[in-house]
Formats: sequence, C-alpha cells, structure tokens
Amino acid sequence: MNDDARTKREAFSRRMTDILNHAALNLAIAVGYRTGLFETLSRLEVPQTPLQIAEAAGCSERYVREWLAVMGTGGIVDISADANGQIRYHLPPEHAAFLTRGAGGDNLAVYTQEIPLLTTQVLEDIVAAFATGEGLPYEKYPRFQAFMSELADNKHETLLVGDFLPSIEDGALVARLQTGIRVCDLGCGQGVALVLMAEAFPASRFTGIDISGPALAEALRRAAGRKLENVDFLEADAADPGALAHLAGTFDYITAFDAIHDQRQPLAALRNVRRLLAPQGLFSMVDIDAHSSPVDNAGHPLAPFLYTVSLMHCMPVGLYRGGQGLGMMWGRETAQAMLQKAGFSRVEVLTMDFDPFNIHFLCRR
Ligand SMILES: C[S@@+](CC[C@H](N)C(=O)[O-])C[C@H]1O[C@@H](n2cnc3c(N)ncnc32)[C@H](O)[C@@H]1O
Repeated sequence: MNDDARTKREAFSRRMTDILNHAALNLAIAVGYRTGLFETLSRLEVPQTPLQIAEAAGCSERYVREWLAVMGTGGIVDISADANGQIRYHLPPEHAAFLTRGAGGDNLAVYTQEIPLLTTQVLEDIVAAFATGEGLPYEKYPRFQAFMSELADNKHETLLVGDFLPSIEDGALVARLQTGIRVCDLGCGQGVALVLMAEAFPASRFTGIDISGPALAEALRRAAGRKLENVDFLEADAADPGALAHLAGTFDYITAFDAIHDQRQPLAALRNVRRLLAPQGLFSMVDIDAHSSPVDNAGHPLAPFLYTVSLMHCMPVGLYRGGQGLGMMWGRETAQAMLQKAGFSRVEVLTMDFDPFNIHFLCRR
C-alpha cells in the first residue's frame, strides 16, 4: 500500500468512527427530545448531578444517568466532576438554542427523531424492496403524519404568516387574503398551514385536500379546536381529475408545501392544480432546495440526511403501485421542467432568506 492509499484509509477509518458516534448521538438526542430532558436541562442554571436532573425531569435516575453519559461524552452537554468527585452536567444555553421546543426555527433536535422513526417503521420493508423494486403504502408509516405535523408546526408557526405570505408579490397576496379570496392547500396533511392561514385571514375561505383520511380527521379536529368556520377539507387524490372536477377554476391561490414529490403521479397532480386555479390564480409550490443530480448536491450541507429520508419514505410511497417515485431530492431542474409541462404560464424560482433549505416555485396559471 502506498502512502497516499494509507493516508486515505486512515482518514476513512476515522470518518467511519465519527459516523458511528454521530448516529448514536442522533438516536440519544431523539430520546432526550421525546422525554423533555433538554427542556429540563435548559432550566437548570448550574451543573447538576444525574439524580437532581432525573428528579427535575420526573424520570428514572438510572436511565437519565446513562443518557447523560452519552450527552456528556458526545459534547452535547458539558460534563465535569465537583470537589466531592460527583459527576455533574450542564446544558450550555448556546446548545439549548438548537435543542429545545422553544428554539422555534432553530430547533434542530426535532429532526433527530426522523431517522429512528423511519427505522422502526420500515427498515425491513425497505431492505426487502431492494430486491422487488416495489413501493410502500402510506399505511406502513402510521406515526409519520403526526411527525410531519410536528415539523410543520415548527416551521409554519414561525414563518408562514409573518414571512412567507408577505413575500409573495410584494405583499399584494396578503392584501387579497385580507379582502377575501378562495385558497386551497394541496396535500395539507394534518392541516397545520391551512389552519394558520384561516385564522390569520378570516375573510378568505380555505380548502384542504389530502389523500389521507386519518390526516384529514386530525386536520378537522385542529380546525374545530380553533372554532374556524372558513375551512373545509376534501379527501381526494390530487392526481384524479374526476374527484376535483367540481372545483375547476375555483381557487385564487393554491399552496403545496412538501406535497408534490411524494405523489405517485406528480405531473397529473400539477395539471390538476392548474385546472383548479381561477384565471388570475397563483400557485406556490414549496419544496426542498436541491439540484436534481447528486453530483451537484455534493456540497449541500444536509444531502445525506435528505437522501436518506427520501430513500426510507418519499421515494417508496411515490413508487407505490407503479408510481413515479420522484423522491424528495427531485431537485429544482426536474421540478421546473415538470411545472412547465403541466402548462403554467410563468414559473418564478424564489429562494427564501427566512427558509434557506426550501425553495418556492411561484406559478401563474
Ligand atoms: C410530506 S407531507 C406534507 C404535509 C403538509 N403539506 C406539511 O407541510 O406538513 C405530504 C402530504 O401529501 C399527501 N399526499 C400524498 N399523495 C397525495 C395525493 N396523491 N393526493 C393528495 N395528497 C397526497 C400526504 O398524505 C401528506 O399529507
């Protein structure tokens, strides 16, 4: 083996060690997030023993002690020994800023749940699908909708009404929403975005469309909980022209947040969106900002994470029953080409300072 090969081998061996440690940390952070331990730690201003932390969190000391050992050795939580040799832990506020539910848009810990959740739901099915090439139905992901809502809550709550909608046509869309227009959120899931918009713009009327009955049942509960009367929901396949024919030409504004790349027939769905728009209607498709080729995504800071989520969820549900299976990383080039093929007269590709991981395709009928 020459020197170059040896250096490369050693570097990759270190890289593999990092990968194992980071994968383990991801899992342990997800456990801490679920159990509320980061919120507890963030309230404790000075270093505390595992027993004190466990008592403050209302958790088992033995479990908390083992978990803290992961956090301490992994550099997530500061670890020290006091004068009596007692091990103490403290979460620096600079770390809490990315780990707690109160962190809003900076909350990265919420995403650590994603890979463990997908693993428990479909690991064996995905391994088997490598032989068959077949997709998976949404029913294989029973807890995933709720998780998507948690993500949507985290993002839409902070950005949708205050940043995203005002960015459209220099605020002109917001003015129309205040006056009263018809709006549709396609692939609305559990209705997080729809309910926020309906609350903010009571003079407008909002329709949520999704293929998932259980997600819509939760969306209905959410809307009823806020006593909204300007909201309705429709269970339908966005690609089915017959199911949506009665709504042709109805909507002044349609949104699709993260809801096209999963679909089995995305082009048919986009053609339907165009049909549903009123003559001057606008369509906002918001999706992951990536390129269509992995070569061009090599520098993307989250590329392996996003491709993994795609491999475990977006691609298999999109492949189900002969679907196209675009995957989450279909990228802006494929997206633009498909929007053009669907017949939109103008497609603007807008990056968003307030949401750098997503991209906004603003389309006119
Ligand atoms: C990744 S989730 C996004 C949900 C929501 N828009 C958000 O921002 O959290 C994709 C949604 O698209 C829905 N969906 C998938 N295929 C669909 C189809 N053919 N017709 C309508 N909705 C569909 C799924 O049920 C799911 O709720």
